[in-house]
Amino acid sequence: MSRAPAGAVVTGAGRGLGALIAGALVERGHRVLVTDLDAEAARATAAALGPEAGWAAVDVRDEAQVTAARDRVLAEAGRLDVWVNNAGVLATGPAWEQPPDVRRLMIEVNALGTVNGTVAAIGAMRETGGHIVNVVSLAGLTAVPGEAVYAASKHAALGFSLSTLADLRLAGIKGVDISCVCPDGIWTPMLHDKLDDPASALSFSGKLLRPEEVVAAVRGVLDRPRPVTAVPRRRGLQVRLADALPSLGLRALPLAVARGRRVQRRMLARRRSG
Ligand SMILES: NC(=O)c1ccc[n+]([C@@H]2O[C@H](COP(=O)([O-])OP(=O)(O)OC[C@H]3O[C@@H](n4cnc5c(N)ncnc54)[C@H](O)[C@@H]3O)[C@@H](O)[C@H]2O)c1
Repeated sequence: MSRAPAGAVVTGAGRGLGALIAGALVERGHRVLVTDLDAEAARATAAALGPEAGWAAVDVRDEAQVTAARDRVLAEAGRLDVWVNNAGVLATGPAWEQPPDVRRLMIEVNALGTVNGTVAAIGAMRETGGHIVNVVSLAGLTAVPGEAVYAASKHAALGFSLSTLADLRLAGIKGVDISCVCPDGIWTPMLHDKLDDPASALSFSGKLLRPEEVVAAVRGVLDRPRPVTAVPRRRGLQVRLADALPSLGLRALPLAVARGRRVQRRMLARRRSG
C-alpha cells in the first residue's frame, strides 16, 4: 500500500524553476516548505501556492539554517519525503576576471548548498526513506567557456550527489534516492538579463528550455528516481561525448558559442522591437 505524501522542501524557491517545482510538489499532495535567501520572494510564492505551502528564509550556505528548515518540516508534517536542492547563482566571465567573492559565492551556493541540503535530508530520511532531487545543469557534465566557476560548482554538485548515492547503497540504505536533473539553458530570471552578455552565450546554444519542461523532468524523476537526467536528453548525449573526447570537444566549443551569440542577438532584437 502506498503511503500518503508528507513533507517536502525546495531551496531557492522564491522564483524561477524552484517556485514551479514547489507548485508541482503541492499538486502531488505534499506539504511544501518554500525556502529562499530572499524572504519576501519565499513568502509570496508560498502565499500563491495556498495553505499546503509554508515558507522560510534559508541561506543554503548556512548549515544551521538548512537543518532548522528540515526539523521544522519533520515537526509539521511528521516525515520528510522530498528535498529539492534548487538554489543556484550564475555569474559569467572568465574566472580570472571575477572578483574572489563572486567565485566563492557560486561555489558556496551551488556546491556547498547542495551538500548541506543533501546531508540534512539524509538525516531525516535514512529511517523512513525519501528522495533528494538536485538541480544541477549541463554545466555539471562538460566544459562551459564563460561560465567556468559555475561549471566547477555544478561538477562538484554532481560528483557529490553520485558519490553520496553510492555511499548510501554501500551503507545498506536503500530507501533514500538521489536524482540529479541537468538542464540546458532555461528561460528564467537567471538568464533574463543575459541577452547582452557574450560570456553566457553557451547557455543559449542549445534548446532554450521553458521552465515547465524542466519541471516535467523533475516530475519524471519523482515518479521514477534516476541518478542523472539531462534535459533535453539529446543534449546530454552531445555534451557527454564532448567530455569523453576533450580535445575534439574544445575544438567544437567556438561553434557552439557562435550559435549561442546568434540566438542571444535574435532574442535581444525581438525584445527591443517589443
Ligand atoms: N536558468 C538556467 O539557464 C539554468 C540552467 C541549468 C540549471 N539551472 C539551475 O536551476 C536552478 C534554479 O535556477 P533558476 O534558473 O530558477 O534561477 P533564478 O535565479 O531564477 O532562481 C534562483 C533562486 O535561488 C535563490 N538563491 C540564491 N542564492 C541563494 C542562497 N544562498 N540560499 C538560498 N537561495 C538562494 C535566489 O534568491 C532565487 O530565488 C539553479 O540551481 C540553477 O543553477 C539553471
